[in-house]
Order: sequence, then structure tokens, then C-alpha cells
Amino acid sequence: MPVNVEHGAFYSVQELSQILHTSEEEVIAILKNEDFSSCEIQGNLHLNKGNLEAFFDRYFAIKGISGDRQYPIPKYLKSSPEPWTTTLVQMYEKKVNFPASISPEQGEFLKSFIGNVNPRTVVEIGCFTGISTIWMAAGLEQIASPAVIQSIDLFDEILPWMPTRHGCLLDPYRYANDRVSDARLSHRIQFHKMNSVDAGHHLDRIVDRPIDFLFIDGDHTRQGCLTDWMLFYPHVSVGGYIVLHDIYPEHCGWEGPRYVLDECVRGNDQFAMLEIKTNPCNFGMAIVQKIANTPATSRPASIQQTPLVAKLLKKLSLQG
Ligand SMILES: C[S@@+](CC[C@H](N)C(=O)[O-])C[C@H]1O[C@@H](n2cnc3c(N)ncnc32)[C@H](O)[C@@H]1O
Repeated sequence: MPVNVEHGAFYSVQELSQILHTSEEEVIAILKNEDFSSCEIQGNLHLNKGNLEAFFDRYFAIKGISGDRQYPIPKYLKSSPEPWTTTLVQMYEKKVNFPASISPEQGEFLKSFIGNVNPRTVVEIGCFTGISTIWMAAGLEQIASPAVIQSIDLFDEILPWMPTRHGCLLDPYRYANDRVSDARLSHRIQFHKMNSVDAGHHLDRIVDRPIDFLFIDGDHTRQGCLTDWMLFYPHVSVGGYIVLHDIYPEHCGWEGPRYVLDECVRGNDQFAMLEIKTNPCNFGMAIVQKIANTPATSRPASIQQTPLVAKLLKKLSLQG
């Protein structure tokens, strides 16, 4: 967390070295050699928040780490004159969006899937900078659906995340809203800057009918993803779809979505499920269809009572 003083917010050398997984000496050397208007606060060197992006760019340049890693952008997307496609191309060119956002191939899949399902109520958990949201909104736009995507995210500052993410974005909420506006899709997307746990506990403030299409791509830890699942799936309509992203831990490095599939979905006759491979990174997606209902306050019989599930059920007061 940056320190807030009279003339702005500042990051300490220690924080910067932790973000970059590098030594404090290396950070100090860059701050001293470059004109980042760093300053001393209580005797310690700090970097002004406004210079964070330039500082990270400099660090990666010194390390010889290329900043232009991005998903390959299909030709048709580049040449299409639609506002939403030109906006997506610009977003894919921004390094913060790789590899945390879905790829163009996954986006096309979601767009086409949502266009076929024609859901009345769509909820997204975890939009990051809004790439997946724009793809889904384009699917709704194509079929002239009246639906509006309710998209929930913490919208915290996005900082480099070593070794995979080399970009940063200090105000993702504003960025996402601006891009949606550039894409001419503001009428299709409502962003909610909040924790999905709070959203799940007060879902009636966000949607007024069962969810027909739920995209879960938020907290990818076991506990986080399981909590999202437990809070939201009871509100999905029978026949409705739940899409989970990042289901292959060996490729994406996250265990939560796999855990939910194995503990709550597989072998549960309340759901039908299909896992799909994804390109160019096989992080994987699962398409789950809810084929039978259970009351929102009860526990589906076939969810296995592992210690984590039991603890969560108790915490969320969902014990049947
Ligand atoms: C992998 S990114 C989502 C990528 C996005 N769906 C896309 O493809 O463009 C995960 C997002 O989940 C959000 N997130 C994590 N935990 C959350 C929570 N408890 N509540 C709301 N959002 C959360 C993070 O802020 C981050 O933006």
C-alpha cells in the first residue's frame, strides 16, 4: 500500500522490491540514476505513484524483459471497423492485459456462446480491465438482446505480478468504463466495484431474476473460487450456464476452479459439464449447465464434505 502524504501517494523501496521480486539495492539504484522525482519520507527513499508505470518500464528494459508480450490478434479483429473490435485490439496491445485477460480465441468462444444461449440475466465475477466483458457484450449486441451484463470486480490497482505480468494500471475501474464507452457498449455493461462475497450476499441488489449466464473468473484460490461458487450457483436458473475460467492448474497456476469442478460439479446430477481446451494458453474453461434446482439455502447432496467445503458452508450459513 502506498504511503499518502500531503503531496501525493508514494511507494517505498521495500514495496517496489517485493512487487518486482528483486533486491532493494537494485530498486534504489534505478531510483537514484533516473529522474523519477523520488523523495525521502522519514529518511527512506520513496517513488511517487504517478511515476510507477515509467519506473516499471525502466526496470524491465534494464532486465532485457520485453514489454510487448501479448496475445496474437487475429487479422479480422484488426481490420474490422466496429468500435468494439478496435477497442479490443487496443486493449490487447496494452501489456497489463497479458496474460490475465482471456485471449481473442476464448473471447470469440464466449461471444458466440452467449449469442446462442440468449440469456436474460448475465453476471460476471472478475472482469479485470473489461476484455471478457466486452466480448460477452458484443455477443448480446449481435442478437439485439435486452440484457445488461452485471460485472463485479474489486478494481484494485493492477501492479506487475512476477514473472508473468509486466504492466500496471492504477485505476482499472475508470479504464474499464472508458473502454466500454469507446466500444459503444455502455448500455450493455454495469460494473460493480465490490467484493464478490458482498455481492453474493446481496445479489438481489444486482439482479432481480435468476442468473441465466454466470462467468466466474474472480478469486482463483480454492477458498475464493469455492466461495463464489457457493454464493452464486443457487441463483442460477435451471437450464442456465456457469462458465469457469482457468480450470487447468498445470497451465494457469491456479487451483480454485479445478477444485470447484472436482468437489462440487463432477458426479453431481444437478449439473452437466464440459471442459474445453483453450488457445493459445491452455488455461481451460468449463461449461457447466444447471439441470436441476435446489433451494438457495440448502446444500446439494452430492457436494463432497471436504474440510474446506464444510468450513465454507458453515461460514456462508448454507448448511442444509
Ligand atoms: C483473471 S482476472 C479476470 C480477467 C477477465 N475476466 C478477462 O478475461 O478479461 C481476475 C479478476 O478477479 C478480480 N477479483 C479477485 N478476487 C475478487 C473478489 N473477491 N471480488 C471481486 N473481484 C475479485 C481481480 O480484481 C481481477 O480483476
